[in-house]
Amino acid sequence: MYRSHTCGELRESHIDQKVTLSGWVHKIRDKGFVAWVDLRDRYGITQLVFDEDRTSSKLIAQARDLGREFVVQVNGVVIERVSKNANIPTGNIEVLVEELAVLNESKTPPFTIEDETDGGEDLRMKYRYLDIRRNPVKNNLVFRSKVTMAVRKYLSEEGFIEVETPYLIKSTPEGARDFVVPSRMNEGQFYALPQSPQTFKQLLMVGGLDKYFQIVKCFRDEDLRADRQPEFTQIDCEMAFVEQEDILNAFEGLTKYLLKEIKGVEIEKFPRMTFDEAMKRYGNDKPDIRFGMEFGELNEVAQHKEFNVFNSAELVVGIAVPGGNSYTRKEIDKLTDWVKRPQVGALGMVYCRCNEDGSFKSSVDKFYDQEDLAKWAEVTDAKAGDLICVLSGDKNKVRAQLSALRMELAERLGLRNPEEFAPLWVIDFPLLELDEETGNYHAMHHPFTSPKPGQLELLETDPSAVRANAYDLVLNGNEIGGGSIRIHDKEIQSTMFGHLGFTPEEAKAQFGFLMDAFQYGAPPHGGIAFGLDRLVAILGGQETIRDFIAFPKNNSGRDVMIDAPAPIDDGQLRELNLKLDIQ
Ligand code: AMO
Repeated sequence: MYRSHTCGELRESHIDQKVTLSGWVHKIRDKGFVAWVDLRDRYGITQLVFDEDRTSSKLIAQARDLGREFVVQVNGVVIERVSKNANIPTGNIEVLVEELAVLNESKTPPFTIEDETDGGEDLRMKYRYLDIRRNPVKNNLVFRSKVTMAVRKYLSEEGFIEVETPYLIKSTPEGARDFVVPSRMNEGQFYALPQSPQTFKQLLMVGGLDKYFQIVKCFRDEDLRADRQPEFTQIDCEMAFVEQEDILNAFEGLTKYLLKEIKGVEIEKFPRMTFDEAMKRYGNDKPDIRFGMEFGELNEVAQHKEFNVFNSAELVVGIAVPGGNSYTRKEIDKLTDWVKRPQVGALGMVYCRCNEDGSFKSSVDKFYDQEDLAKWAEVTDAKAGDLICVLSGDKNKVRAQLSALRMELAERLGLRNPEEFAPLWVIDFPLLELDEETGNYHAMHHPFTSPKPGQLELLETDPSAVRANAYDLVLNGNEIGGGSIRIHDKEIQSTMFGHLGFTPEEAKAQFGFLMDAFQYGAPPHGGIAFGLDRLVAILGGQETIRDFIAFPKNNSGRDVMIDAPAPIDDGQLRELNLKLDIQ
């Protein structure tokens, strides 16, 4: 038996018991006449003691030979500690060691296995198995498992069945590039790894399974960010005989359940906002509604004066920064520089101080009098002591810029409390999005999303005005889920492919199987997929998903531990018909 207890288990009630523990040597402290070893496993740390009065000199010598991260097994007696450690649950006891066996030695680890490590990101990723021994990473993985279990419990109790769908498939368009896999048996042909199981879950509805879910890996070859990985996990769901309202209710239920089970938070408000409203009020389709600082559109009150920058702008829009009047001129200049960075891209920023005495002082006083500025304050809901920040320009651009500023200021002001949760449905997304580079429309969600009833005709005349039965679930300013009611009619689906620029032949070649299926009694259906990594990270109070994934990729899409991707040898390339045999 390797252990009678774990290293997190022993308490005062175990005093005088003989125990066996196994774990890693976390730390050694040698005072000469007495040596302590902290023994660590997944469950915690237990202090082992060796001293000259009670331990044989051979055993003490053995203890002195131990190194960090050695794997050891000890037999001993639980005793009360003289100097107790209130910081750890086992801090009142220690184990007086009687026998010690080294189960495996360890090289000195390249970084310290401590909560605050000296290891940089790259080093930690290269030795991820050591990183996982650290509490912050380990706890995140334990947390993820807890969330995953809760999801499975809820959905299965709601009658969803878990079905696995294949990974070696044909392209499913979700807006990213595919990862492809060459087929050895089918020369010159490739599978694509799924960007999502979208078409398969729709086929399961045609198959009559009615309520499906899957916790599933998805693969997308896209630029990486803190909340994006090339392979990530979805909680993928689909339901038959449902309307948008049914889906929103079902997954509001899941979200509330998770917040209650995992965080102990009761969610009362679960607001809904249309895409248009979200863009107008927050400049963003995933607004963080934990705090105000809503946009105030100032065209009416700020245009038609002498200030040409505003007069020529499509949109003049501002936010009130709570308490911002206390910023020094230098601080405001820095803020202006911040919005002018290429990542944000504003051309400049106009500001207006709202003084405590009710007067205003703006950077454009030459053009606006107190009465004008009072209107700015009214529109942006600015109070005495606030600072109004105003940007202007092209509507879409300026909204994105001011939204970036809003989030940055909220972060600086501590308004983004990670222990507060504000979910939100954003609904009525546009069906199509114009690709500015190519001038073509593409599906904003995916090509299987149905337009709102009665809007099909608009596709011919004003494609960008068509709204879809599509919704996103937003939590604390992050898109954690997205879905739609699907098209289940072959003709409508063909029309949609046409609008998306597919010829009938291309549509048939790529999605013929789906359109065929629609001819055999496809029920009305719809669904949603949550990004599990994002959901877990946000519930865990963070926005970077990497540390909630056991073996993540770095920003260049590499796994630096296994050193992938990597070249493959010529023989394998030939076998896959990827290389001509040049001799
Ligand atoms: P969508 O593309 O919106 O919808 O994806 C659903 C959710 O998956 C998460 N997500 C990601 N997480 C980490 N890394 C990524 N690269 C990444 N990409 C997406 C997001 C997102 O909200 N088939 C549809 C769902 C449906 O219509 O039912 C789909 O995949 O949290």
